[in-house]
Amino acid sequence: MENTSSSSDAHVLIIPFPAQGHVTPMLSLAKLLSFSGVFTTFVNTESIHRRLSGSSGLTDRRRLRFRAVPDALTGDGGGNTRDFDFPSRFFNLQESMRSGSTEAYKKLLTEELIGEWPPVTCVIADGILDYAIEVAGEVGIPTLVFRTSSPCCAWAFASVPSLIHHGIIPFPEECDMDEIVKGVEGMEGILRRRDLPSFMRMVKSTEDKHIKLMNGFNSKLIIGKAIIFNSFDALDPTLLPIMSSYYPPIFTIGPLHILTKSLNISNEEEEEQQEPGINPSLISLLQEDRTYMTWLDNQPDQSVIYISFGTVAVLSPEQFIELWHGLINSGHRFLWAVREDLVKGKEEIEITKEMEEGTKERGCMVEWVPQEEVLAHRAVGCFLTHSGWNSTLEGMVAGVPMICFPYFSDQMINSRFVSEVWRIGLDMKDVCDRNIVERMVRKVMEESALELRSSTARMADLARKSVEENGTFSC
Ligand code: UDX
Repeated sequence: MENTSSSSDAHVLIIPFPAQGHVTPMLSLAKLLSFSGVFTTFVNTESIHRRLSGSSGLTDRRRLRFRAVPDALTGDGGGNTRDFDFPSRFFNLQESMRSGSTEAYKKLLTEELIGEWPPVTCVIADGILDYAIEVAGEVGIPTLVFRTSSPCCAWAFASVPSLIHHGIIPFPEECDMDEIVKGVEGMEGILRRRDLPSFMRMVKSTEDKHIKLMNGFNSKLIIGKAIIFNSFDALDPTLLPIMSSYYPPIFTIGPLHILTKSLNISNEEEEEQQEPGINPSLISLLQEDRTYMTWLDNQPDQSVIYISFGTVAVLSPEQFIELWHGLINSGHRFLWAVREDLVKGKEEIEITKEMEEGTKERGCMVEWVPQEEVLAHRAVGCFLTHSGWNSTLEGMVAGVPMICFPYFSDQMINSRFVSEVWRIGLDMKDVCDRNIVERMVRKVMEESALELRSSTARMADLARKSVEENGTFSC
């Protein structure tokens, strides 16, 4: 992509849901648009804006400016455990954002700007940020909806009525979780009950709030002028044409982090560049710890398992211990990003001598790392992940085979696609036992290493091609 220095009057306002997994890809898009000459306003909540500004010095540029709207007061959803009341928490958050942020947001949409900045002509709103989509519609600004999850997940949510019709949800009592389900067009023969987005497991009746939640995710997709996914066509050659026949135009513009990385390289090369480098993928809401780097540099090629469960997933003390033992018993080296709040009830963990010594010998645990950089390191040979969409794309592009241990929502279906459709990893869903962890690690690092590495390399190649000059990237 080149800087066209367009004199266009286009001014795009981009507004993500306030969470790292949403801010990162949408900020990548903001950077790309501003680099192409489009005036771009990026809107965070105040607390996210403060945290990002503190860690990375986000400052306004000639065609990219950052603004904030007040934070919403979050309702108590019962804590972040696997079975917390996500719908209630989500609905409360939506309501408080609507009441707390609408005024400031509307002002940004309609304000008269001074200097060369034209008024806002288009909004790109997060597909799960209801008030942002609705308010833009009310003031008559065309809106594109950016869905930060995978297309396959969005399509599963769209299939809720069909899944109800086929008697798949609510799940019958004591049903077979491994049974292949009907009802998701284009995914026949692929999905088992356990691979459906986790909210479907929690549905008790057709009136259930989880149904309202999933239908809500889908309904926002159909009211915009177009839908944007951080994905690429070669990933879903069957699914995307089906989705296109039901939805407004779909643009697959990813993997965005490849594009922003190439901008950063060209920024360094061209000193006169007007928009100096911010790398959205290096903009983190958590403090980075770089002590891992020296350790990683000293490990042999493809010898290390990198473990991270993103920004939301929570493990029980038992799961943490089983994973830890499995890693040690595998005999392989590991680098584990253990977020401060990763384990709920971590005071219950008893660290044995075996765990301590095994880690000292072959492991490294840090709180937070720049993940893209770690995945691209020559020493990393396997990614044990929660299958969040950003992590899945990052692992795929880096050509690192995955072991998936999904936590909730879209991660259940992403992990199935990783193992059964894209064949770039193994799915350990719903099981956390040290023997299985060890077996999975050995399979990825030893027995199936060649096969998995070559299919992941193929996928990485397709991802890169999609964002080349004549690739499928369209924006
Ligand atoms: C959430 C949902 O969990 C996910 O399923 C959805 O697709 C997006 O929103 P999250 O759990 O944070 O996201 O996972 P993911 O989408 O993988 O994003 C995590 C981001 O944090 C990645 O970009 C990753 O590079 C970054 N990260 C993670 C770090 O930079 N350092 C770390 O140590 C761990």
